[in-house]
Amino acid sequence: MIPDLRIDLPDEAATARLAAALGDLLRPGDTVCLYGGLGAGKTAFSRALIRSLSGNPEEEVPSPTFTLVQVYPLPRFDLWHFDLYRLSGPEEVAELGWEEAQAGGCALVEWPERLGDLLPADRLDLTLTVTGPESRTATLAGSPSWTPRLESLSC
Ligand SMILES: Nc1ncnc2c1ncn2[C@@H]1O[C@H](COP(=O)(O)OP(=O)(O)O)[C@@H](O)[C@H]1O
Ligand SMILES: [Mg+2]
Repeated sequence: MIPDLRIDLPDEAATARLAAALGDLLRPGDTVCLYGGLGAGKTAFSRALIRSLSGNPEEEVPSPTFTLVQVYPLPRFDLWHFDLYRLSGPEEVAELGWEEAQAGGCALVEWPERLGDLLPADRLDLTLTVTGPESRTATLAGSPSWTPRLESLSC
């Protein structure tokens, strides 16, 4: 195991660079859990990752606050962007296509705390902490499948 990786993000462009670098490491079946309070930058991170992988910097990436999920067919896999803040309970996540997302897609999950027992063991946890108006710190901790990938992370 490698210790948690801490990355300082002095501005939103740095967050976008980290998102693009992580996007390049994603494989079908991956789950990335995004932790951090309201306004920490979970959606900003997701938007940058999706835009990078779609190759379209203008791609519409609305926050899934009300829809709870948005699916993006990307060249290498479908990316499922979840925001579970308003989830009524873990059973509701099945209706959103959780199994399908786990099977062949990649899942980016805001408010993964809501998953309860459905939280997959194989995942990357990314926590965003607000350190200033424009700055954040990212802390990354992954299950074993992520260890070599995190070691190769350059941004
Ligand atoms: N370094 C940064 N990384 C990410 N977002 C940032 C950063 N600096 C400022 N922001 C701003 O913080 C806000 C984050 O909002 P959002 O991504 O919706 O948060 P969350 O989804 O965690 O509630 C956005 O307005 C974004 O422009
Ligand atoms: Mg959000």
